[in-house]
Amino acid sequence: MLIVYESKTGFTKKYADMLSAKTGLKVFQIKELSKVNQDEEIIFLGWMKVGKIQGLDKLRKYNVKAVCGSGTGRTAEPDTEAVITRNKIEDKIFFYLRGGCFPLKELKGMDKIMLSMFLKMLKSRRDKDEKLEEAISIIENGFDGVKEENLKPVLEWLNTR
Ligand SMILES: Cc1cc2nc3c(=O)[nH]c(=O)nc-3n(C[C@H](O)[C@H](O)[C@H](O)COP(=O)(O)O)c2cc1C
Repeated sequence: MLIVYESKTGFTKKYADMLSAKTGLKVFQIKELSKVNQDEEIIFLGWMKVGKIQGLDKLRKYNVKAVCGSGTGRTAEPDTEAVITRNKIEDKIFFYLRGGCFPLKELKGMDKIMLSMFLKMLKSRRDKDEKLEEAISIIENGFDGVKEENLKPVLEWLNTR
């Protein structure tokens, strides 16, 4: 088993490195995929962008057994089933890992534009509950939800193999 990850701002990388340190499994960035044998079992970690787990499509021909999606939501959004269907990973085990983000003003390019639009939409909602207020604050102020304990289900799954 190997760990492969795709991370844009470093939060998913933190989980990949943590998982490698805890298990002794080798870790590869997606850029290094050519070094990975296609038969080798893989646990993949990718950051989520509008529900899509980034980088996953590059591994379609590889032997991916487990997929971890990292996002800023408290849980996989809108729900785990929808994420599994959207990413076509019904045949794999899926784990959601809460990641993090930098404040909107520090972002650049398309990501900044997309999140600015999303923020505007969230702010215009009249029915703001605590979860929505949190989502607004996360985008504006940044957030780091990376915790070792979040890897517990992944480690438990690895132990059963
Ligand atoms: C354009 C954009 C879209 C995003 N869409 C989602 C999403 O649909 N669900 C979610 O939970 N997080 C979403 N996020 C948050 C990132 O997935 C999260 O910050 C992730 O942990 C970043 O990982 P990285 O630091 O490894 O790149 C989005 C972030 C950006 C910039």
